[in-house]
Amino acid sequence: MRRPMVAGNWKMHGTRASVAELINGLRDLALPSGVEVAVFPPLLHISQVVDGLKGKSISVGAQNSAVESGQGALTGEVSPSQLVDAGCSLVLVGHSERRQLMGEQDGVLIRKFAAAQASGLVPVLCIGETLEQREAGKTLEVVSQQLGSIIDELGVGAFAKAVIAYEPVWAIGTGLTASPQQAQDVHAAIRAQLAAENSEVAQGVRLLYGGSVKAANAVELFGMPDIDGGLIGGASLNADEFGAIIRAAGN
Ligand code: PGA
Repeated sequence: MRRPMVAGNWKMHGTRASVAELINGLRDLALPSGVEVAVFPPLLHISQVVDGLKGKSISVGAQNSAVESGQGALTGEVSPSQLVDAGCSLVLVGHSERRQLMGEQDGVLIRKFAAAQASGLVPVLCIGETLEQREAGKTLEVVSQQLGSIIDELGVGAFAKAVIAYEPVWAIGTGLTASPQQAQDVHAAIRAQLAAENSEVAQGVRLLYGGSVKAANAVELFGMPDIDGGLIGGASLNADEFGAIIRAAGN
């Protein structure tokens, strides 16, 4: 049985004051024990969140990390080992905003994924197609290529300690959500791609859906057989809404 996971990607949102408020809201949530909960604050607020959530079973992750696992001369970057030292246990790899806006491509993402695992962080690999790619009928091809680049370099075994988030780019922050069936179809294809290499890894890995998930659509999405929770952007900035999404995953 895969334990569902609900993760909040705060993106570039928050001030010390608003983060303190959000921490209080999260502390007040009654969390179902069957769901793993994580938040990904901006780097600047990670220490505040780690301290603020002490004793609450919510993991903290980073939205990005360096291509090298240790310390070194890499101005402006933060390494996975530094994130572990700061109390992180997870890191997002290849969020579409970084692929598109920061030009991150497979080569760099493979290094980030490997460096994260070398330091003991669990990478959450984000994959997904643009609207143009979906309309051209290329969704499965794109997603399979993004996943395949990691499998080819690091082996399918790398996914024994990783999470995958399918996030159609056209559904991120747009209010458009993939229908539960659209999401399920892609999730099933992702699991089948892994299963072709190793069925145990495929059955164990959590596949999260992301893209305009809200309390109102979470139950239906999480009810699909290959959707093991969600990566939540906008709705994770409101503790009550985020709490309702977590409860949806617990049902
Ligand atoms: P959204 O973002 O929930 O605001 O659409 C999801 C994400 O980008 O992880």
